[in-house]
Amino acid sequence: AAEISRIEIDSTQPGPRIHRDIYGQFAEHLGRGIYEGIWVGEDSEIENIRGFRTDVIEALREIKVPLVRWPGGCFADEYRWRDGIGPRDQRPVRVNTHWGGVPEDNAFGTHEFFELVELLGAEAYVNGNLGTGTPREMAEWLEYMTGDSNSAVVEERRKNGRDKPWKVTYFGVGNEAWGCGGNMRPEYYADLYNHYATFLKSPHGTRPKLVASGGTDVRTDWTEVLSANIRDAGGISHHFYTLPTGNWNDKGEATGFGEDMWISTLWQTLRMDEFIRKNKKVLDKNDPEKKLDFYVDEWGTWYNPEKGREPGFLYQQNTLRDALVAALNFNIFHDHADRVTMTNIAQMVNVLQAMILTEGEQMVLTPTYHTFGMYKVFQDATALPLEIENPLSYSHGDVIVPAISASAARGKNGRLYLSLVNLNPDSAQQVAVRVKGEEVKEAEGQLLTANQMDAHNTFAKPQAIKPAGYRAKANTGSLTLEVPAKSVLVVALN
Ligand code: AHR
Repeated sequence: AAEISRIEIDSTQPGPRIHRDIYGQFAEHLGRGIYEGIWVGEDSEIENIRGFRTDVIEALREIKVPLVRWPGGCFADEYRWRDGIGPRDQRPVRVNTHWGGVPEDNAFGTHEFFELVELLGAEAYVNGNLGTGTPREMAEWLEYMTGDSNSAVVEERRKNGRDKPWKVTYFGVGNEAWGCGGNMRPEYYADLYNHYATFLKSPHGTRPKLVASGGTDVRTDWTEVLSANIRDAGGISHHFYTLPTGNWNDKGEATGFGEDMWISTLWQTLRMDEFIRKNKKVLDKNDPEKKLDFYVDEWGTWYNPEKGREPGFLYQQNTLRDALVAALNFNIFHDHADRVTMTNIAQMVNVLQAMILTEGEQMVLTPTYHTFGMYKVFQDATALPLEIENPLSYSHGDVIVPAISASAARGKNGRLYLSLVNLNPDSAQQVAVRVKGEEVKEAEGQLLTANQMDAHNTFAKPQAIKPAGYRAKANTGSLTLEVPAKSVLVVALN
């Protein structure tokens, strides 16, 4: 008989809050992410709310998107915010040099972004341009958004239709300064960060958390230099993308892969834990008072471009494998919730590991969308320590990963939640669950799985993979959950 995994949750030792911003999203001016995916304009035949796709807005509201990062990414370091304000028909056209060399007509700008977050009930993370913009430009953008004086800049906002200041929760000072943001050394960026941040001003009590753009993957040098040298930041950001092969020249396919690419993708994504750990160690040394948070403001899968599509648009299918990638990352972020308080999956619609794919007036929800939906109970929950007493593993070829990933928390509503991911694509796992000092009689929630590793939704079959109800009852005092092969399970324990 298969071995049973045994998990004990300690609800007597509450850990840190799982900040809802861990469930943040990223929407860049890239491919069909903003244009078509979110913004179709008021005159579109696609049903819209003042230019925003109704179907996409409604779907995103369902998963309670807490935070949206905009306008990039690499795009941010070439973005001139003044292009995107004022009457739309008078806005200049530029070329999106990073992403496909296509025209950018600036129809979606600052006012549209804030309308989007208001429609979603989300908070705003605006990423400033340090790569090609001046400190004055950056400072005036923040003043335009948050100012309440009668300065010329604020009056301009009023003239453009917005009287009240907006709330900017996070403000990014550049992006990927080690690469598309200017190919800098961390020491040079640290100086520039302090230089630009000096002039970022907003009325008392409205200062956003400033995001210093940090390193990537296994690197800790950016965290090391920034945490020792920058002043006045809310946190340091980090980027890590999951490539099935780990090779940027041939990343692996989004669909039609075998078990070798299944396990290597999961193995790759689990490295997030190591990267966060190593960077936290640096922060614990340089910032023992925990003034700086660690943000992962770009993460998710990145596959070879889909054949027949513009490669610079980064459009890719999204399968059950992506749903597991999202769940594994959430479980890791929960484990590090003491420092990791904000992350953004890349990206929201039609780009990389998207929640939603659109084609004309059609829309599909991806398996990743469903993971976000199932995990929303963890937003602002209190993390609880959990021990897998007999960690089992799953291997294929020479790659080995844990068979089960788990996370537990006390939800804002007081209920106890448990997430379980079964990484094994062939075997169900039995998981015996105990809660220290409490008797649990029942588990009730949602399960996401499918027959194929690359199960996905298409415009022809939009409901091929979606969550199903799940319930299990304790038997003679003990609760054992059957977690199907290749699945994500989120349950409330009663
Ligand atoms: O998300 C796509 C791109 O990936 C972002 O623009 C950039 O920051 C990263 O390299």
